[in-house]
Amino acid sequence: RQAAADPCWLRFIPPSRGDLTRLFARLTAVHVAGPLHPLLATARAELRQGLSSLTGRTVTEAADWRAAGVIVATRAAALRAPWATLLPAARLAELGREGFLLHVMETPDDRSPQGAAPAIFVVGGDEAGVLYGVFHLLRGLTLGTPLSGLAACEHPVNPLRMLNHWDNADGSVERGYAGRSIFFREGRVLADNPRIRAYARLLASVGINAVALNNVNVHATETRFITEEYLPDLARIADVFRAYGIRVFLSVNFASPIEVGGLPTADPLHPDVARWWRETARTIYQYIPDFGGFLVKADSEFRPGPFTYGRDHAQGANMLADALAPFGGIVIWRCFVYNCLQDWRDRKTDRARAAYDHFVPLDGMFRDNVILQIKNGPMDFQVREPVSPLFGGLTRTNQMLELQITQEYTGQQRHLCYLVPQWQEVVAFDTYARGPGSTVARIASGELFRRPQGGVAGVSNVGDDVFWTGHVLAQANLYGFGRLAWNPELSAAAIAEEWVRLTFGDDPLVVTTITEMLMASWSIYESYTAPLGVGWMVNPGHHYGPNPDGYEYSKWGTYHYADHQGVGVDRTRRTGTGYTGQYHPPHCDVYESLATCPDELLLFFHHVPYTHRLHSGKTVIQHIYDSHFEGAERAEWLKQRWESLARRIDDVRYHVVLERLTEQAEHAKEWRDVINTYFYRKSGIPDEHGRLIHP
Ligand code: GCU
Repeated sequence: RQAAADPCWLRFIPPSRGDLTRLFARLTAVHVAGPLHPLLATARAELRQGLSSLTGRTVTEAADWRAAGVIVATRAAALRAPWATLLPAARLAELGREGFLLHVMETPDDRSPQGAAPAIFVVGGDEAGVLYGVFHLLRGLTLGTPLSGLAACEHPVNPLRMLNHWDNADGSVERGYAGRSIFFREGRVLADNPRIRAYARLLASVGINAVALNNVNVHATETRFITEEYLPDLARIADVFRAYGIRVFLSVNFASPIEVGGLPTADPLHPDVARWWRETARTIYQYIPDFGGFLVKADSEFRPGPFTYGRDHAQGANMLADALAPFGGIVIWRCFVYNCLQDWRDRKTDRARAAYDHFVPLDGMFRDNVILQIKNGPMDFQVREPVSPLFGGLTRTNQMLELQITQEYTGQQRHLCYLVPQWQEVVAFDTYARGPGSTVARIASGELFRRPQGGVAGVSNVGDDVFWTGHVLAQANLYGFGRLAWNPELSAAAIAEEWVRLTFGDDPLVVTTITEMLMASWSIYESYTAPLGVGWMVNPGHHYGPNPDGYEYSKWGTYHYADHQGVGVDRTRRTGTGYTGQYHPPHCDVYESLATCPDELLLFFHHVPYTHRLHSGKTVIQHIYDSHFEGAERAEWLKQRWESLARRIDDVRYHVVLERLTEQAEHAKEWRDVINTYFYRKSGIPDEHGRLIHP
């Protein structure tokens, strides 16, 4: 595929409904007030390009604000402008960093028969706010929002809204399912790749403001990214992102002082080590003055870290934080720390406990410019997991939520799996850390515990594939991630519909069908793969396709303990690993008791006989059979739904998606048969409905 990269949701297809003629006639001129900061130049260019595509006319720049349909400024410039008094003063006064105000009113217009015409003021709390306001306006116009509905005043809920790339210098992408890296190739930085700017636009349009360029597993070449060998080229990528309000971070190797500094140690308390990192930070900031900071995977899955020197993670993170502090940088320290050399015979050690056990004792010991980055669940991005109890466990530490946009365990962008409903459950989860209402959303944003830093990171699903994400419909996950990070209260369905309309236009059948497909997809994927929160029944290594015992006798701490009588992991305090005790009440009791544990997480928390009856009324074994038969049928349904859109969608996208949905429907049958047969052989219990389960 050599075609130009897909514009994704930035197509600006004119809405077919609603009378926008009068408004669109006015939108042919824009006015930018105040000094032209680079972000304002970006906002202006985006506005002109978006509006001309929407209105089908050339959009010019008006020197006189009265001639313009859109007037753009930061608050500082707005307050000095002749039109300042036209704006709601109280709203203006409230505008903070990255926030924006959209104000719609009639202003005098000689060309209009009424003598007046609508004008839209886009005022940002700062330059980034202007850019977000412009994208918000363009989205509203594309969605056919009536003039009266365009007024808005928004601020991002999360200070940091970040993409983590697991891209390697050689161009491969760890857990990437959409081609090769857009940043690196064969050890070189692709500083001139036009895809980077196109990507920055996509990200900024949904409010992303940070990106870590390289894999958290930092290999030999990437270890040298923080040296002058690579910094000049990385700085050019940072320049591209800067024009869209996005700060660049790098993943670093904790052993860098040894590997590139030539020191005998990387002990965080050794003065030479601290000095080496300070000097390194100074060098980085010479090239990238607004460098965001370091993302660190330490003492995890064979990565080096402070444990080697008998130090703890606060000592490790703080040393790096002190090196970055003079320049305003931060350390994002990952909590994905567990024993990956476990013995499957040992039923007491529980990987799910690990992050909490490691980090809660360190609560309150991290610098203000350290953020602990916590995966949504205690294991590893499975189709279904409970929310990590670190949320609510830590109260005196900056923290951010890590989500996986790339579909490692959720169908690898061969299967459709719209993840926003899953993420929405996570952010809405009430930890009860400070009584009712202590949601993950409020903790991650920093609000609940009044932390200075916080946010959400997502592992990117993007590569150099023409459609960016392999599966065209997987673009919705990237879009939805940004929207949810901006405002965790948006509904997954509203985000889905928005995305469909921006991406495919507003044909009602297309909009309802694809929205429905997206909204059903996570549940469909869950039903033909992992039953009742069990997880890990995948092929080891690449993690695609069914393999019920793939991780059962391995060292990774990933077991389901299925035998002839039952299945599941006993994580109760009474008879199991005690993991339920990491939650605040009521969850610690809700999960502990079979009477209250939700069905979808039953096997995560309990080992039960196959004949155990769920709240749904079914036995566990019958649930497994039913959900797998139904799941495979529903995967077929997805394909048929899509086929009903033939000729309503351009051929190329139609066929690319159809091909994947066809593969999914086939592969779902494989999942169904492997899982059903596995449990039939273990349990010897036949299907109540006598459907075909291969013996
Ligand atoms: C998962 C994934 C790895 C990744 C790791 C991480 O285990 O399979 O590829 O490195 O998560 O988040 O660090």
